[in-house]
Amino acid sequence: MSPISVAIDGPAGAGKSTVAKLVAERLNFLYIDTGAMYRAVAYLCNKEQVDCSDGAAVSHLLRNHDFRFEEGHDMNLQVYIDGEDVTAHLRNPGVSKLVSLVAALPEVRSRLTEWQRAFAVTHSVVMDGRDIGTVVLPHATVKVFLTANVEERARRRLKEYQEQGFDISLGELIQSMAERDRLDSEREVAPLSIADDAVKIDSTGKTINGVVEEILRLVENAHVR
Ligand code: DC
Repeated sequence: MSPISVAIDGPAGAGKSTVAKLVAERLNFLYIDTGAMYRAVAYLCNKEQVDCSDGAAVSHLLRNHDFRFEEGHDMNLQVYIDGEDVTAHLRNPGVSKLVSLVAALPEVRSRLTEWQRAFAVTHSVVMDGRDIGTVVLPHATVKVFLTANVEERARRRLKEYQEQGFDISLGELIQSMAERDRLDSEREVAPLSIADDAVKIDSTGKTINGVVEEILRLVENAHVR
């Protein structure tokens, strides 16, 4: 049987990764967090002091370092650069600040898109990101565009940061998320946009489980057809 793919796109903090992980767990599919791949590139740029907006320099970095992505515990994508596990650093506010810049580079997107597609050839996947339904997997079995209002998204991220011990205010977060949404939506290559055949789910005020069940029903229906 050919692999099944579930594409979940949407803005930062809409709950994509939480929902995608649970959907993948229920279906026993591989969960691929494509944001973690972009974050890994931003992390390495920062470490190597490479300008995140310099396409040639970042491409050089991508060619000269060994990136490895594996399914880790709790369904998280485990990211290794040159053999070192860098997963714990990928959600730092410093990396979050830089990541939109590397995500706007066509050279980076085409390389990461190749890696992402390769997973979907060999495995049934739940993949979350910004361009999965539009660019990476245009023939995905099910496409979801998950959203929520910016205050709710910022409140969720604030909780994540507080749990990691980062001190940041809600106001700052709302501002930085709105800015990241703008950069992600306005960039020229693969901007955040809704695929024509995606189902839009607004998670504002909904429970995680409610959203997960909604997506599982979509997969079941697509599979029966
Ligand atoms: O989902 P996230 O916050 O971990 O994503 C990090 C950044 O990577 C975000 O600025 C958008 C970008 N991204 C992207 O452009 N395309 C993807 N498929 C996934 C993430």
